[in-house]
Amino acid sequence: MSINIPRGTKDILPGEVEKWQLIEQKAKEVSARFNYKEIRTPIFEHTDLFQRGVGDSTDIVQKEMYTFNDRGDRSLTLRPEGTAPVTRSYVENKMFGLPGQPVKLFYIQPMFRYERPQAGRYRQFVQFGIEAMGSADPAIDAEVISLAMTVYRELGLKKLRLVLNTLGDAQSRKSHKEALIAHFEPRIDEFCSDCQNRLLKNPLRILDCKKDRDHELMKSAPSILEHLNEESKTYFEDVKTSLDAMNIDYVIDPTLVRGLDYYNHTAFEIMSEAEGFGAITTLSGGGRYNGLVEDLGGPATPSIGFAMSLERLLLALEAEGVTLETEEELDCYVVALGDEAKQKSVSILSQLRQNGIKSDKDYLDKKMKAQFKAADRLKAKYVAILGEEELTKGIINVKNMDSGDQQEVVIEELSTFIKQGK
Ligand code: HAM
Repeated sequence: MSINIPRGTKDILPGEVEKWQLIEQKAKEVSARFNYKEIRTPIFEHTDLFQRGVGDSTDIVQKEMYTFNDRGDRSLTLRPEGTAPVTRSYVENKMFGLPGQPVKLFYIQPMFRYERPQAGRYRQFVQFGIEAMGSADPAIDAEVISLAMTVYRELGLKKLRLVLNTLGDAQSRKSHKEALIAHFEPRIDEFCSDCQNRLLKNPLRILDCKKDRDHELMKSAPSILEHLNEESKTYFEDVKTSLDAMNIDYVIDPTLVRGLDYYNHTAFEIMSEAEGFGAITTLSGGGRYNGLVEDLGGPATPSIGFAMSLERLLLALEAEGVTLETEEELDCYVVALGDEAKQKSVSILSQLRQNGIKSDKDYLDKKMKAQFKAADRLKAKYVAILGEEELTKGIINVKNMDSGDQQEVVIEELSTFIKQGK
């Protein structure tokens, strides 16, 4: 009996993988342009990290983690997101002591969440994320958002909507929390059990509930914007001013609540407005998490970041009909006829490859016509033909597949000839 791939995961095969490489390259290139450096953290971490970092009352920690005990009976978890691990690493490696603050990091790594799979929602997915740690300047919030928008735009996406909110500082949140509890408590029995549990712990998350989103109390719920203290208001205004300065459009949505506990001040999501994108329209999400480094044992370090999954980015490109130009063609295919020529083609191919020329040959003992067919399928720019006659003369016949021109080239000069034509 054959074994199938686990639910919510997928193979990325040749043909598709080139698109991934292109996106990854773009993400790396834009990160470098904004002066973010790559960080790689382990695929699994101590479970405590996510319980404390992401928050005990979140869906991620409550329902979605791949948690297991290793043979030493330690509880480990496949990372469901990147911010807590990067923060752990920042503290553990004392990056707060580095001269170059803020520390600006990016990652492209697989994440794991036990969610109900559907289009755009998988159990293993790849996040491109960035974290800027050690600055409370509102301009860096705008920089982080601009980085995400730059990646999307340069890949060709147009139908994007940036949704912005502020969650305020601790004082503003406390006052908002009290107002939310007072608002929902009298009729909390009309809400789902998740919301009932959230009421006292984290009432903000009630606003994020999918089941109860049409309840009349949702629309009339007190807005964070009414509970912001002066400092939080100013901070939010300054973020908006920086976005305006970069000509980045946004809409304010005071109900935007992110699903992770560590956020304060700026919260944002970038949505796809492309028709046919599907039910899940969020392409990326992020925000400020000023308390997390401290919660994980480091000094007070204001930080902000975001993450986007490459899967949703690919879906958005497809929905907008953007095709990525991937490079698939071969520079040269060597066609050899006869035993001696076949033998010689081994060293010719090796020479081509050592000279940086993308090349291949037949390994199935095919006839000439079939070898040409293979060259065609591989989109070879040149086909180099070697038969007995060519061997005796020390030359190889090179056909330019675009123009159809054919020319004799001294075998030793094949690499130079092809490089000139490239
Ligand atoms: P998040 O909103 O949980 O935030 O996830 C960020 C992005 O990851 C989503 O917008 C989506 O693109 C992608 N994503 C999440 N779950 C799935 C899934 N099951 N399948 C496919 N894609 C998914 C975070 O993870 C935060 N760590 C972001 C952040 C970084 N905040 C500050 N720094």
